[in-house]
Amino acid sequence: METQAGDPGAFRAFDLHRVPSPCFVVDRARLEQNLQILADVKQRSGAKVLLALKAFSMWSLADLVGEYLDGTCASGLWEATLAKEKYHGELTTFSAAYKTSEIDAIAELSDHLLFNSPAQLAAYADRAEKHCSLGLRINPEHSEGEVEKYDPCAPCSRLGTPLSQLGDFDWSQIDGIHMHTLCEQGFEPLERTFAAVERALGGKLHSLKWINFGGGHHITRADYDREALVEFLTRVQHQYGVQAYIEPGEAVALDTGILIGEILDLPENSMSLAITDLSATCHMPDVIEAPYRPALLDEPDAGHTYRLGGPSCLAGDVIGDYTFAEPLKVGQRIAFLDQAHYSMVKTNTFNGIALPSIAIWDSATDALTLQREFSYSDFRDRLS
Ligand SMILES: Cc1ncc(COP(=O)(O)O)c(C=O)c1O
Repeated sequence: METQAGDPGAFRAFDLHRVPSPCFVVDRARLEQNLQILADVKQRSGAKVLLALKAFSMWSLADLVGEYLDGTCASGLWEATLAKEKYHGELTTFSAAYKTSEIDAIAELSDHLLFNSPAQLAAYADRAEKHCSLGLRINPEHSEGEVEKYDPCAPCSRLGTPLSQLGDFDWSQIDGIHMHTLCEQGFEPLERTFAAVERALGGKLHSLKWINFGGGHHITRADYDREALVEFLTRVQHQYGVQAYIEPGEAVALDTGILIGEILDLPENSMSLAITDLSATCHMPDVIEAPYRPALLDEPDAGHTYRLGGPSCLAGDVIGDYTFAEPLKVGQRIAFLDQAHYSMVKTNTFNGIALPSIAIWDSATDALTLQREFSYSDFRDRLS
């Protein structure tokens, strides 16, 4: 995959030595800009916008998110609990399958509860419906994804009930449907996917109270066609008499954060190598999983090229090959762009490697707050 990181923006001027290393630094002002864009879509369309906590659950910024968005969406009990404890507004929960031991607590916390299959809906509807509004996640069976791993409509996908299996479904059991089929995409794939849903479901959509269009909409990217999105959401709500929802994650946190690290050693093996205190496998697992090459702050077109990798035992703990204007020095700081989403939420302590600290910087005022530093006890206490 290609990184969608845009311009480094205000981070170009940030002194990387102002925080300990490694450290996530999130720009509050940049986050507010993204939230303003999403709030504008919300206001002009009448759709509700929820933050997908799976992408970005930096709860120290929950109050700011709450000023602009309608609430959050969670993937299960722990995210739902975090949503209620720290965030504002409504909560929608979707999990590919719920456990009997957790369903009552999840239903009590949630305003909308989405089931992945008619079987799970049948198993838990009675217990859940007294607490929240129920919906079904559908699989529109219309692929727009470039990478199969991130395409919930790929063959044999377990995510969502295929439309072709809904022939004898009793629509009176649910208030809404949910579809999440996109990944870092523009408006047109959404329009084409919903056209496939309309062709398959037709009049059934009129019986619903709400339609949730999931995430994957890169609404805050400069080239996203927001006018078309506003028109689309307005049209769907008007035509079917429903409340529309979207639940972006990436679009909320896009380009708001960097991950700062330090050069620890500069060995050679057929090429120049650099070991950093940043680990792909511990701190940016999507680099290996997606895979993708994160953008580096201030990388020139030509200069001295190094293969950057982490301190872990994993031979494949490689971030990528990067070029620097001057030869690297031990102790030098570097920063990867666009790391606020899907990195902070995925960190782990494999090899006992330290978790990055978390800081908030406000590029509008230059105020810097070190929110959280982690220690040995965070590693120890996940084990027993
Ligand atoms: C059900 C659901 N909703 C919302 C999202 C958020 O997607 P994104 O961060 O790409 O906007 C995801 C991401 O996987 C998801 O699975």
